[in-house]
Amino acid sequence: MRPLNGNQPNQKVQVTSRSARNLTFYVRHEKDTMDQHSVVLRSAKPTLDEGLEFARYLDEAAEGFFRLMLGRRASQIMAQAFVMPDHDLSYQNVTFAERDNIVMGMVSGYTAEQHRRSSLGPLKEAAGGRNLRMRVVLILFAPLMRIIDSIADGDFYLQAIAVDEQLRGDGLGALLMDALEQRARESGATRLSLDVSAGNQGAIRFYERRGMTIESQWPKRLKIPVLKFHRMTKKLG
Ligand SMILES: CC(C)(COP(=O)(O)OP(=O)(O)OC[C@H]1O[C@@H](n2cnc3c(N)ncnc32)[C@H](O)[C@@H]1OP(=O)(O)O)[C@@H](O)C(=O)NCCC(=O)NCCS
Repeated sequence: MRPLNGNQPNQKVQVTSRSARNLTFYVRHEKDTMDQHSVVLRSAKPTLDEGLEFARYLDEAAEGFFRLMLGRRASQIMAQAFVMPDHDLSYQNVTFAERDNIVMGMVSGYTAEQHRRSSLGPLKEAAGGRNLRMRVVLILFAPLMRIIDSIADGDFYLQAIAVDEQLRGDGLGALLMDALEQRARESGATRLSLDVSAGNQGAIRFYERRGMTIESQWPKRLKIPVLKFHRMTKKLG
């Protein structure tokens, strides 16, 4: 957790404090006074500092995939891509949860249409000389990338969600999901979808409690959970 500069929230979200257990969560809007327990949910800003926060959460949610693909400088590379608009890893798709200017969690996602318009260009540009490593990993993981790439029309895709380890289990993840669902509805999406590793039982339980169900599995016959992925979906009412 690190303090970031500037914390004016610019995203309105529904308050669901019933999901919080030990902490009193509510969402602060711009004119409210700050309470020591209040959690602010706000859109990310295009700065490298925020990009580094995003990279940390994204890599955790993706179980180290980005570090594998981009090497030791993965965070810096992702942060450079993050400040660019109109692609999957852009700040435009990211909501942070913070309290007293300290970021505690992140959720990111986009519509099927935004994803179709996106390319790996900004990440490749940021990776520069490390492009070769990236290409090799993308080729090795091509079948998985194809699955992740296939977002149905009308879906809003949850790219990643993560909360600081010591703050898990207190309802912050539920608040971030609420914020994403609201963004999804506002975009006109009719379904929420995501991919999760079958080995990530905690996250699967979390999603199931949020009304998501497993729609398909990949690869179909493989029994090793760490190499297996579930596509989970939920209709948006
Ligand atoms: C999944 C995650 C975002 C949930 O955030 P959270 O703030 O702990 O969520 P909530 O407090 O609203 O809900 C807690 C539920 O999450 C699940 N959970 C998953 N990992 C957990 C953890 N390490 N500690 C506590 N709960 C966890 C549990 O099912 C728990 O439900 P229960 O205790 O009621 O049975 C968070 O655990 C996390 O950051 N995990 C690591 C990153 C990750 O795996 N992301 C998903 C990738 S697809």
